[in-house]
Amino acid sequence: MTTLSPIPGTTTTDSAVQAALTTIRRNTETFGAAYPDDTTAGDRYERRPAEGAIPEGGNRGWTTSFRTGQLWLAWELTGDDAFKNAALVDTRDFARRVRAEEDLETHDLGFLYTLSTVAAWRLLGDEDARRASIEAADALMRRFLEPAGIIQAWGDLSDPAQRGRTIIDSLMNMPLLTWAAEQTGDQRYADAVRRHTAQLREHIVREDDSTFHTFYWDAQTGEPVRGATEQGAFDHSCWARGQAWGVYGFALSYAATGDERLLEASRRCARYLLAHLPADGVPFWDLVYTDGSDAPRDSSSAAIAVCGLLELAQVETDAATAAEWTARAHAMLAALVDHYTPARPEDSDALILHSVYDLPRDNGVDEGTLWGDYFFVEALMRVTRPDWKKYW
Ligand code: GLY
Repeated sequence: MTTLSPIPGTTTTDSAVQAALTTIRRNTETFGAAYPDDTTAGDRYERRPAEGAIPEGGNRGWTTSFRTGQLWLAWELTGDDAFKNAALVDTRDFARRVRAEEDLETHDLGFLYTLSTVAAWRLLGDEDARRASIEAADALMRRFLEPAGIIQAWGDLSDPAQRGRTIIDSLMNMPLLTWAAEQTGDQRYADAVRRHTAQLREHIVREDDSTFHTFYWDAQTGEPVRGATEQGAFDHSCWARGQAWGVYGFALSYAATGDERLLEASRRCARYLLAHLPADGVPFWDLVYTDGSDAPRDSSSAAIAVCGLLELAQVETDAATAAEWTARAHAMLAALVDHYTPARPEDSDALILHSVYDLPRDNGVDEGTLWGDYFFVEALMRVTRPDWKKYW
């Protein structure tokens, strides 16, 4: 391993990175080519349950690439080909998934293919991974709705309950389209990014800088209809992970489009998130809760926010403000390292403890999550290797 920069505020840089790598290695040996479930159960990952024709451990749902992304990061941190080879097995499976048209009815093709096949292309120049990434971008483009100018988040396009609905998480799916525009020169992908992110900036960010989780447009007229939640406490509360997706996603969207209103949207999301944190800096699962509440925390939101704030700091035009974003990101990462990692790697399959997937459905509450683990390693990578090139 090459020398790592220290994590400001902790004395444990090497041990934090080593502990994460120990767990990723153990999970890789345990699961082989099978995918773990979205979250742990009692701090242990189980194989992803079978659904329909997809067998247990199969590649379905929106989170499988967070395992692949961890493998790529572990390979970059160590140079150990065991991680690269495991990531390539996943990459081939993602190429198969898109060609078999298996479980593609989701905007999360961005998460899925950015961290698997796009990363394989960026790191290794893998031509088949590049082709599969463009096929995934084309599948994502099929979800672009005229005249609303948004990408529908969930479900079959003919599902009346989901028609015309998108969600703040979708910002993180835009980098697949930005990448496809760069690769192919086809501006349809870039236009979709520009229009979708403009709609979210205008309607999903509220006047007080908090965000709706989801928002509906009238699919016939394209008119904005209403905001609502799916995983937050109330329609008008602020779901912590959504706010963190906003910080990171708007910063990436600004970098992709050059639209300064998107930079401002990222700043607004960041200010609101930072102003609604409890004393230890790790959000409750919904920002409506404050110190003294016994509501669960969502450590995955903190890991996403660390990466988002560091990305925002990179594109921030004011040096003092950029330094502030960086300092707040470092403090949040230090809190995760010091208080949200298992005491010993063998105590949990998750890299960070105490996340929430979907509290209203009692799904993955106070557990580890694949995405929390991915963004925790990305955060460690960003801080300890400042020259790291992102996959997004
Ligand atoms: N993208 C779904 C979630 O953050 O739970």
